[in-house]
Amino acid sequence: MPLTSKFFNLAVWMGAAKGVCLAVALTLAGSVAAQTLASASDAERSAQALSHAEGLALAKARACLGCHQVDSKRVGPSFQAIAQRYADRNDAALYIVQVIRKGGRGQWGAVPMPGQAVSEQDAQKLANWIISLRK
Ligand code: HEC
Repeated sequence: MPLTSKFFNLAVWMGAAKGVCLAVALTLAGSVAAQTLASASDAERSAQALSHAEGLALAKARACLGCHQVDSKRVGPSFQAIAQRYADRNDAALYIVQVIRKGGRGQWGAVPMPGQAVSEQDAQKLANWIISLRK
């Protein structure tokens, strides 16, 4: 076999080997990423399912209770009334997160709700907790 074709074979072999390595690396990276995603959403899900006491404590800590109560109207509507109103909406949690962070107006009366300085994660937890209050 001429020398050049030996080199050629070697080059092809190395090319193939590189391809295999790349494929293995991609597969590994993919499964690591998938695992990270799965565990992140598991953690999120359990973090978002607050007990009633935890939800109430968070609402208190984030100053929601200055304007809201669980079961009666204050400056804003009761959390139970809110839960009831959006009970049939698939995107209730998303909508409520938006209102918490950006504020809202015109849904319950003349007084608007100013956007609240809470993290996305806390807003999610609060939204899920509020939704859980429906009877
Ligand atoms: C300064 C008073 C005030 C504070 C503080 C406040 N809210 Fe409100 N909130 C209101 C008022 C007033 C409304 C009714 C707005 C309207 O009519 O659209 C309201 C409405 C809402 C609604 C229903 C929105 C809709 O469109 O139906 C949600 C959910 C809500 N508040 C959650 C919260 C949460 C959670 C907090 C704490 C992070 C909070 N609010 C803090 C005054 C407040």
